[in-house]
Amino acid sequence: MATITAVIDLDLPGPTISRHVYGHFAEHLGRCIYGGFWVGEDSDVPNVRGIRRDVVDALRALGIPNLRWPGGCFADDYHWQDGIGPREERPRMVNSHWGDVVEDNSFGTHEFMDLCELLGADAYISGNIGSGSVREMSDWIEYLTRADDSPMATLRRANGRDEPWKVPFWGLGNEAWGCGGNLRVEQFASLARQYATYTRDHADNRVYRIAAGAHEDDYSWTETLMRSFDPLDQDDRPATPFQAVSLHYYTRTGTWAEKGRATEFSTDEWYLALSRASWMEELVARHSTVMDRYDPGKKVGLVVDEWGTWWDVEQGTEPGFLYQQNTLRDALVAAVHLDAFHRHADRVVMANIAQTVNVLQAMILTDPESGALVLTPTYHVFEMNRGHHDAAALAVHLKGAPAREADGRSLTLVSSSASTRGDSALVSLSNLDAERAHTVTLDLRGREVMGHRARVLTSPELAAHNTASAPETVVPREHGGVRVRDGGLEVDLPAHSYVTLELAMRA
Ligand code: AHR
Repeated sequence: MATITAVIDLDLPGPTISRHVYGHFAEHLGRCIYGGFWVGEDSDVPNVRGIRRDVVDALRALGIPNLRWPGGCFADDYHWQDGIGPREERPRMVNSHWGDVVEDNSFGTHEFMDLCELLGADAYISGNIGSGSVREMSDWIEYLTRADDSPMATLRRANGRDEPWKVPFWGLGNEAWGCGGNLRVEQFASLARQYATYTRDHADNRVYRIAAGAHEDDYSWTETLMRSFDPLDQDDRPATPFQAVSLHYYTRTGTWAEKGRATEFSTDEWYLALSRASWMEELVARHSTVMDRYDPGKKVGLVVDEWGTWWDVEQGTEPGFLYQQNTLRDALVAAVHLDAFHRHADRVVMANIAQTVNVLQAMILTDPESGALVLTPTYHVFEMNRGHHDAAALAVHLKGAPAREADGRSLTLVSSSASTRGDSALVSLSNLDAERAHTVTLDLRGREVMGHRARVLTSPELAAHNTASAPETVVPREHGGVRVRDGGLEVDLPAHSYVTLELAMRA
C-alpha cells in the first residue's frame, strides 16, 4: 500500500480560521424552532423561559459562535413586528414555504435574542428584502440596537427589554434569485445597496451586512455583486455599503425531486455524496477568484450561510418539514466542508450549516413524543473541531493519498486540515475510503511535539446513526492507533473514519 504523508510546518501559521465558520442556522421550518428550540414556558420539557435547556447546553458545549434566523426562505415572508408584544395577541401568518402551516409568531425577536444570550452566540438576523419594506428593515435594527428614547427603542422597552442588544451580523435578503423574490442580479444588487444604507449602526453596535449571494456555481451573481460595491481600493475603510456576499450549496446524491436516502445508500452513493461535498472546495476557490479580481485586499467576506446534506425526509414525516436522519456519512461530509473552509480562511469569514435542530443536517434531533434529545454524528465532528475556532490555519501538504473517480471528478480519499494556537495544534484527518484503512505519516516540522491526544469517530456500518434508543452508536472515542516516529507521528485511520489529533508543542 502506498505511503501517505502529510507535511505540516508547525511554525508557519496562516490566516485565522474564524470561529464563525462554525455558525448555525435556525429557520421557522418544521420542528427546528417549534419543538426543537422553543417548547413554551408550560412545557414538561425542562426549559428556560420556554427555550429547551438541553438543546442550549448541547450547543454551548460546541462553543456555538453565531445563529442565523429567521430564515432561509421564511425570512423574506417575515414581518418582524408580528413577532413582538404579548404572545396571545400576535397576528398569525402562513408559512407557505414549509408545510403551508399557520405560524402563530410565538417565537419572535425577544425570544430569539434571549436564545442567543443563553447560547452565548452572536445574532445573525436575516432581513426581509423579498416582501419587506426598507422602513421595516430600518426599524428592526433600531428596535434591536438603539439605547436612547427613539421610537423603536421606546417600543422595545414597552415590550419588556430595557437594554439594547448587540447584533453583529445582518443578512440582506436570502436566495434573492429564488424564494427571496426571483430577482435578477442587477435588480437585487441595487436593492442590497439601498437596504444596506438603512441597516444602520446605532450607538456602538457595528453591523456586518451580508448580501444574499450565489447559488452553487453562479459566478456571474458574485461578479455582479462585487461590481456593486463602492470602490474597494481607496483606503483601509471597510467595504461599503455591505461587507460580505453569501453562497449556498447543498449536498445531495439525487435530483431535487428525489434527493437520496439518509440511511439507505450504496457504497457508490457514499462516494457520490463525498465527491459532491468536496465540490465545496472548488466553489469557494472559484468564487474567491472572482472576488479577488475586484477586491485583492480581501475586504469583502464570503459567507457560506447555508450548506450541508439534503436528503429525502424520513418516511412518515411531513415532506415540508425536512426532517432527516444523520449518519457517519453526514459526519464526513461536514468534515470535508470544514477542511475547505479552513483552507480558505483568508476569504471565508463565516459559514452556517443547515440547520441546527430537526431540519436537514442537524446537530441535534429531538423526539416529538418523548422529547428525548439525540446528538448526531455531525455534532461530534463540530465538537472534535472546537480547537480550530479562531486558531491560525496551518497548510497540510498531502502526498500519496489514494483517489477514486466519483461523479466525474477525482475524489482524494484522505482529507485534512490543521491549525495552531500558542503551543498547541489540532490536525483533522478524514478517511473517506469506505473499505480500507490507511496510515498517514505526519511529517511535523518547525516545532517540537511533546505529546498528543487522538480521538476517532467511526462505526462498522457506513450508515450508522444515533437514535433515542441507541444514542451512542457513533460517538468519538480515544484512539490508540498513533505511533511516535522520528520527526512526527504515524496515524492509523480506520476505514470510513474521522480522526483529530491534538498536539502539545514545546514552548
Ligand atoms: O434550509 C432550507 C432552505 O434551503 C432555506 O430556507 C433556503 O434558503 C434554501 O433553499
